[in-house]
Amino acid sequence: MCGIVAYVGHQNASEIIIKGLKRLEYRGYDSAGIALMNDGLKVYKKQGKVSELEAHLKDKNTKSTIGIGHTRWATHGAPSDLNAHPHFSESGDLAIIHNGIIENYSSLKTDLENKGYTFKSETDSEVFINFIEDIYKNNDGTLEEAVRLALTKVIGAYAIVIMSTNHPNQLIAARKGSPLVIGVGKDEFFLASDATPIVEYTNEVIYVNDYEIALIKDGEISIRDTKDVKTTPYIQKVDMELEAIEKGGFEHFMLKEIFEQPKSIKDCFRGRLIADEAKLVLGGIRDYATALINAERIVIVACGTSWHAGLVAEYIFEEFCRIPVEVEYASEFRYRNPVIKEGDIVFAISQSGETADTLAAMELAKSKGAIVLGVCNVVGSSISRVSHEGVYTHAGPEIGVASTKAFTAQLTVLTMIALKTALRKGTIAEQRYREILVDLENIPKKVEKALKTDEQVKKIAEIYKDARNFLYLGRGYNFPVALEGALKLKEISYIHAEGYPAAEMKHGPIALIDEEMPVVVIATRDSSYDKIVSNIQEVKARKGKVIAVVSEGDSLIPGMVDHTIEVPGTHESLMPMVSTIPLQLLSYHIAVMRGCNVDQPRNLAKSVTVE
Ligand code: F6R
Repeated sequence: MCGIVAYVGHQNASEIIIKGLKRLEYRGYDSAGIALMNDGLKVYKKQGKVSELEAHLKDKNTKSTIGIGHTRWATHGAPSDLNAHPHFSESGDLAIIHNGIIENYSSLKTDLENKGYTFKSETDSEVFINFIEDIYKNNDGTLEEAVRLALTKVIGAYAIVIMSTNHPNQLIAARKGSPLVIGVGKDEFFLASDATPIVEYTNEVIYVNDYEIALIKDGEISIRDTKDVKTTPYIQKVDMELEAIEKGGFEHFMLKEIFEQPKSIKDCFRGRLIADEAKLVLGGIRDYATALINAERIVIVACGTSWHAGLVAEYIFEEFCRIPVEVEYASEFRYRNPVIKEGDIVFAISQSGETADTLAAMELAKSKGAIVLGVCNVVGSSISRVSHEGVYTHAGPEIGVASTKAFTAQLTVLTMIALKTALRKGTIAEQRYREILVDLENIPKKVEKALKTDEQVKKIAEIYKDARNFLYLGRGYNFPVALEGALKLKEISYIHAEGYPAAEMKHGPIALIDEEMPVVVIATRDSSYDKIVSNIQEVKARKGKVIAVVSEGDSLIPGMVDHTIEVPGTHESLMPMVSTIPLQLLSYHIAVMRGCNVDQPRNLAKSVTVE
């Protein structure tokens, strides 16, 4: 949610910042802006995509070796040129880019207005920079000190970078709750919301911690915390290839990421799954492995697609480990008074590792004595750092806003954790464990085969692209797949879609079914096969159009439905990794055919860092 980029060094800052903003555009794309030091502090902002800002800069003199840039996902104030960042302070000395939300901005604004400040935008960020300026003006200290004092008084989340006319070669950056990475080059620094704008220049990065303030000037960086204690920057190597953040010949990132899944699942296995030796090595969960075995209950907190992965994990952990599991929307969990006991295991699942509600749910669980284990994709993200231990999904950067490869990687990791726990706990027979491990190892091949349905799915998309509603039904392990299929469709094609456990249909949604209603049924061969066949008949009896995802060689369902999409069979607990593939493709093709912006759907942002 909002992307920030900044640069100071010896290169052309505007080129680096604009390129970086394009890489971060998945985080927000309603307006963009840049501030450069060129005969004073110059700010250029435009409503719309980064490309519009770029066009606006064409005839401007943008020479500068220092600058800050922002791509916005509106929180306070509608998307407009005025509300776009960077924001100036009243005197024009300071400019800020801010990702996050200042909760007490209203009272700060009133105080500042009483002192005579006026505001051009409706944003909390403009209040924030004026609050800093006010402290700076009324104290003898440095600008860094004023920033520090301001940060002790603001409530909310922020990753900020500040430039000042009076300090033309310096950047001040800080974070709390919103991500901030600093790339360290030779006499140059690259700041961004994540490493994607940085990796083509340097692989040495500092992940700034909450409550830290970085001062960058004269080719040096120093970091202090909000209590003014100096900390030593920890420079680490980031492991990300440039190709991983480019489209590589695909029309959209989403399509690339769908097709990457055989590889991303393999990457997730690498060094962890050794099927011939029946071995699972999960270095990320060591100290708490025994606590997991002995857990009386597991709670899973997550949002969106990650929550769907949690639902699949509920079935897996209960079946293999015989541990009761509750799957919670992080946003609900954090605001009630959940019953968490010392030693309960709480899994937090997140692609970005920055989702505000998931982070807050983890903090709450920790405060109640739970052991919090993370399943994250982004290395070094806040959620991975707040977890006691955890396992990375290693799916590589996911840039399309609709989550695809992260979902299958989450399922892979959660399955490995459950199987390993079950074996050690003695709740799975060794033979069965070995068989499932072999099946798991074969999943990339099966996903590859499922991807071959692409052309067929495209033809089905053509038929139903103008539908106004869709229903998705599944049972057992395929029930969360139905939810996920519906979410994918609605978020990128803006068609209303609902996912249901197939048996629940009779308790309400069946009233919606008529000849206009496409119903996607995930009906692969598993323990609820006969039941779902009956559900299909119920839909057909009401003239619904059925698109069924079935197991290869199914001879019954094709005779009953309008379209069948065959996917290879596997153990039912692993089926979601395969059966979700045609649903991802279906939503992708429908969205493209409807002319939607697949990678950047309206109103959405990839990383939801505000609640
Ligand atoms: C859907 C989607 C979102 C995310 C949700 C959680 O395609 O991408 O529903 O799954 O915002 O995000 P993470 O996993 O980053 O915590």
